[in-house]
Amino acid sequence: MSYPGKERGMDPNTYYLRTFGCQMNDHDSEHIAGLLEGMGLRRRARPDEAEVLVFNTCSIREKADRRLAAHLREAGHLKEDGPRLIVVAGCLAQSRKEGLVEDFPFVDVLVGPQSLHELPRLISERRATGRWTGAFHDETTHFSAELPRADIAGPTAWVQIMAGCSNYCTYCIVPYVRGPEASRPPLEIVREIEGLVTAGLREVTLLGQNVNAYGLEPGFSYGVTFPDLLELICEVEGIQRVRFLTSHPKDFSDRLIEVIAAPNQVCEQVHLPVQSGSDRVLAAMGRHYDRRTYLDLVARLRAAVPEVSLTTDIIVGFPGETEAEFEDTLSLVEEIRFDGAFTFIFSPRPGTAAARLPDRVPRDVAEQRLQRLVDLVQRVARERNQAWVGRTVEVLVERPSRQSPGEVMGRTRGYKPVNFVSKAPPGALVQVELLDATSTSFKGREIAGAGALGPAVSCPTPAGRRLEAAAQGRG
Ligand code: 5AD
Ligand code: SF4
Repeated sequence: MSYPGKERGMDPNTYYLRTFGCQMNDHDSEHIAGLLEGMGLRRRARPDEAEVLVFNTCSIREKADRRLAAHLREAGHLKEDGPRLIVVAGCLAQSRKEGLVEDFPFVDVLVGPQSLHELPRLISERRATGRWTGAFHDETTHFSAELPRADIAGPTAWVQIMAGCSNYCTYCIVPYVRGPEASRPPLEIVREIEGLVTAGLREVTLLGQNVNAYGLEPGFSYGVTFPDLLELICEVEGIQRVRFLTSHPKDFSDRLIEVIAAPNQVCEQVHLPVQSGSDRVLAAMGRHYDRRTYLDLVARLRAAVPEVSLTTDIIVGFPGETEAEFEDTLSLVEEIRFDGAFTFIFSPRPGTAAARLPDRVPRDVAEQRLQRLVDLVQRVARERNQAWVGRTVEVLVERPSRQSPGEVMGRTRGYKPVNFVSKAPPGALVQVELLDATSTSFKGREIAGAGALGPAVSCPTPAGRRLEAAAQGRG
């Protein structure tokens, strides 16, 4: 059978997948890929080579919408060449629903983040009926983690522990598109991590919009909170490092600080979005903490974990933000001295409370504020990194360097990338002397002879101690 489009390089039964947005979307995409591969499709690197084109979208800021529009138009042109199928998945599909088909009539399938498990059915239905189809569940009934997953490259993996968010920060669209908080049963998480470690992975990053709220939603019956979950995960034999994203300051407990401080596999790294340094703006954002509470939390965290790597998210130009309020954000950054920050200009999202607020900050003012903030964040981050130069640290090798042959890229426990010459394979833990620093990465030198380390540290929980004692013949 002749296959229109084939002569132009398109292979039937193939897919192209492009992901926008956050780590949760990247993780969802691993499962979208798993589902498509389960349908017999093979991945292609370029859209013109593939039959099914999938865009896993983000709606957190307007810029993401605009970028998607350009990609979709290109996909629409490709469709003129052959029988392609265009799928829009993720948050923008959920927020725009059929509005997306009105704007882009060549779109075939829409699938929201809570409906990814329906993707194979939707594709078959579209093929059978010739009409666009969509699914948009409001609540999480199937975690992405339960779906098949495409192969993971490298020694690190994301593990979803929660879906959704119930915080309704006034600027944020996430609760509207990803539904209310829902936590995965702890045993399923532990089983998944055991499987990953058996497959050779060394490090997991636990994912949720607000991981500190793990297990706190009504109806969660396992009696396991986030610090408990971390301790359970530390007991998985062979796991070397555990990270987590993202933390909300209002739910960050002292017990969590204790678990990070304990000599276990939980890395000394916290991403703790502050959003603003102004009490008026924080209240208008609906964040439920003020500047003082945030500073106190960071002081407690640093007292317990002096070398913690602390990063944050900051929004400038929230409606009504005055110059003095913006300067409160600058002074907070000076005072805290973050290791890094993701910085954003406020983007009004349809349906959110802040989108209806008066006193929008003019674009040029917001852009100037962003630039001043970025300059400060980078200066502080460079200074903080430079203070590590000369020290020798444990690095987990992730992959060969993309720029320099013979070098590898690995990360410190604080999640800082280090490039250095090494023959160590991905997954090796090596000792590296830090030679030079920028605001975002290091150059290093492997300490010869140190070799790969065993399990990084011992496990402090009662079950962990039992395991250790048994391993040393004391059990
Ligand atoms: N405009 C700008 N930034 C936003 N964020 C979330 N919503 C918006 C918005 N409407 C930022 C916050 C959040 C990060 C993931 O994205 O800083 O922590
Ligand atoms: Fe959005 Fe706030 Fe939830 Fe984060 S905590 S996803 S900023 S609503």
